[in-house]
Amino acid sequence: MSKAIIQLDHIDVTFEQKKRQIDAVKDVTIHINQGDIYGIVGYSGAGKSTLVRVINLLQVPSAGKISIDGDVIYDEKVLLKSKDLRAKRREIGMIFQHFNLMAQSTAAENVAFALKHSGLSKDEKAAKVANLLELVGLSDRADNYPAQLSGGQKQRVAIARALANDPKILISDEATSALDPKTTKQILALLKELNEKLGLTIVLITHEMQIVKDIANRVAVMQNGHLIEEGSVLDIFSGPKQALTQDFIKTATGIDEAMGKIVQQDAVKYLPQGSRLVQLKYAGQSTDEPILNDIYAKFHVKANILFANIEILDDTPVGEMIVILSATDDKVDQATQALQEAGVSVVVLKEGGHQ
Ligand SMILES: Nc1ncnc2c1ncn2[C@@H]1O[C@H](COP(=O)(O)OP(=O)(O)O)[C@@H](O)[C@H]1O
Ligand SMILES: [Mg+2]
Repeated sequence: MSKAIIQLDHIDVTFEQKKRQIDAVKDVTIHINQGDIYGIVGYSGAGKSTLVRVINLLQVPSAGKISIDGDVIYDEKVLLKSKDLRAKRREIGMIFQHFNLMAQSTAAENVAFALKHSGLSKDEKAAKVANLLELVGLSDRADNYPAQLSGGQKQRVAIARALANDPKILISDEATSALDPKTTKQILALLKELNEKLGLTIVLITHEMQIVKDIANRVAVMQNGHLIEEGSVLDIFSGPKQALTQDFIKTATGIDEAMGKIVQQDAVKYLPQGSRLVQLKYAGQSTDEPILNDIYAKFHVKANILFANIEILDDTPVGEMIVILSATDDKVDQATQALQEAGVSVVVLKEGGHQ
């Protein structure tokens, strides 16, 4: 059984400003298990950064309770003494969008800086820094200054620095937002590798659902300081409940873009009587299971696939298709019903014979 390594209960964060009060985080409860890659998505201003700064008490909440690895570090009665707090913070590494490296120090010096209070000897520190740089694939760049490194390499240095004190938790706040798509993929692959190799729990803040889909196993969606939906990546992607979650997912699967093109096609514009434009979604079935061949064999309903997208989420295939079903009216009805009985979600987008 996995246990919660991060427990945030009923967290509020309120900023008092001269003229008004900003409720940046409102009654958020999140439990993150050891070994999770936990995505937190939301648009800018949703409260994501404020919420994760609460995890290491860089931001003290206005109300709520925080436990890290079984220890309460904050509630109405407990606020750790600065010495204990520093020790607890060392269990939590953090990386950011803009890397936050020291420009006047080399890659190795940037990493070594995090070992200042480690009590290691000079030689031990040097060996540790070398190991960390190797871990992130930067052994040959130890003596380079940040200005001599690419964005991806700078983020690798930042990751090595964040891991210097062997944290159990890594918080990544938009760490790939300043990187191009290819470099983003490489950094995400590195995070996944560190998660598996070190058992590192990762809290991944992003405004892109694609990133969640690529490496997270659980996800929370935030809007206006509230947590509006939470669950396994598989559940959220196969059955998003909130409108905002649905929006985020559409941008991640490309279905929105595809729909724009699909509705322009003559086959859809002039959909004949007896045909039906449907969106099919299925999870858990083998992707090569010929669900569409079945309805042809049983009902002689033909399926013309206009869009198909299959993702593997947490080892489970999740598929989505836009299809024109055509046959005589009652046959299409029967086929639609058979698909639903087989666990496929069917949304009718357009009935034939109308324009
Ligand atoms: N130190 C602060 N003082 C006042 N308001 C803040 C402060 N930090 C964040 N906020 C406000 O809190 C809200 C949430 O911000 P933030 O947590 O940065 O959102 P996100 O990371 O999702 O973009 C925003 O309205 C922001 O302006
Ligand atoms: Mg932010």
